[in-house]
This record gives sequence, structure tokens and C-alpha cells, in this order.
Amino acid sequence: MKRLTLSIVALVAATMFYGCCSERATNECECSKEQAVVETIMTRRSVRDYKAEPVSREQMAKVVECGIYAPSAMNMQPWAVRVVDAPDFIEGVTAIAVEQMPQLKEQEGFRNFFRNAPTVAFIACPEESYSGEYDCGLLSENMMVAAWSMGIGSCCLGSVVPVMNSEAAKPYLERLNLPEDYKLMVAIAFGYPSGDVPAAPARDVSKAYYIE
Ligand SMILES: Cc1cc2nc3c(=O)[nH]c(=O)nc-3n(C[C@H](O)[C@H](O)[C@H](O)COP(=O)(O)O)c2cc1C
Repeated sequence: MKRLTLSIVALVAATMFYGCCSERATNECECSKEQAVVETIMTRRSVRDYKAEPVSREQMAKVVECGIYAPSAMNMQPWAVRVVDAPDFIEGVTAIAVEQMPQLKEQEGFRNFFRNAPTVAFIACPEESYSGEYDCGLLSENMMVAAWSMGIGSCCLGSVVPVMNSEAAKPYLERLNLPEDYKLMVAIAFGYPSGDVPAAPARDVSKAYYIE
């Protein structure tokens, strides 16, 4: 009986812990700070389909600010972030990607090369730097977690880089106005999720452990 009571208490506690902000888009979260951060991290997923409406620029400004408050080695902030919600840019790069990979069009519901996202952030770092790639990774995750806390889905898109670096996409890469000697690291799709957010792909917890 005691064991059953304990199990029920544990189940209720777990539900409260991970479910405390389930209606995140309303921002009516009553969680403790710790619960809110943990839940946001644990429930963020790569979203691969979005509503057509771009993310509001006000919200994106907050997302970018959260990115640039990420730690960076010696506070060098070695990133360049460019946010694009211009349809002609997104459609133009999509046309180039489809030209290079016609099978893209066969994806169900395909509208654009950025997983149908209406807003895309391009993250670049110096070609040579002490920890630029690492720092850009921290910035990227801050942006995605912050976005999710506001009901905005995201997906890192490494596959965008070779297309953006191709000769055909040169005008679009130039439009990003990256500093000299910077390379594009990744693009991040942002948007309001359309439909259900996928379940988490399995994680291998054995990759991290204490050394006694
Ligand atoms: C550097 C990087 C590049 C990625 N590139 C792509 C990509 O090109 N296309 C895509 O659909 N997902 C891409 N992803 C998303 C991963 O597939 C996803 O994060 C992983 O499967 C775990 O799922 P989750 O983000 O939902 O937890 C990328 C993620 C990272 C970190």
C-alpha cells in the first residue's frame, strides 16, 4: 500500500514537473524557473513543418538576443547572425536547391527548402578561430530553446550550407553580408509549428557518466 502511494505521488510529481507549461504558446506558465527551463529543454524538438506566417520580428529579436547572451570563449562573440523572412530569398534558394536535388519536391507537403519555415537564421563564424564553431553551437541552442519557450519551433539545417555555398546561390550568400573570412555554419528554421510536434528520437544516456 505504502509503495502504491509513493508511486502515485511520484507519478503526479513527474506529471507536474514535465507538464507544468504544456500550453507554452500562452506564456501562462506557473512553473518554478528551474522547472520551466528543464521542461523547455526536454520538450524542444526539431520541427519540420510550419505555418506560413513568419515569426514576428519582435519575437525574433528576443530569440537573437538570447543567442548572443550565450557564453563564448573570452567573450569573443565570434558569430554573425542574419535573419531572413523575405519570401523572395526563401523561394529563390528553394528553386536552386530543387534544381540541384529534384527529389526534394517529392517530400510530402514540400513548400520550401527550409522545412517549410517562413523565417530562417543563418549562423556564420570565422574560418579560422579559437572556438568559433563551438561558440556558434552554444548561440544556436540558446536561440532554439528561447524560441521554444515562446511557442516557436525550430530546426537546425546543416543541409542548407552546401547549397548556399554553391555558385548558383552566390547572390543569396552575398545578400547575407557576412564579414570577410567568415563561413556559413548552419541555417536554423524558425516558425510556428503546424500540426503535432514529433516525439523525441531516442537518446543514449550511457554516453555520459561519472568517473569515481
Ligand atoms: C548541426 C546540425 C545539423 C542538422 N541538420 C539537419 C538537416 O539538414 N535537416 C534536418 O531535417 N534536420 C537537421 N538537424 C536536426 C537533427 O536531425 C535533430 O536535432 C536530431 O535528429 C534530434 O532530434 P530533436 O532535435 O528533435 O531532438 C540538424 C541538427 C544539427 C545539430
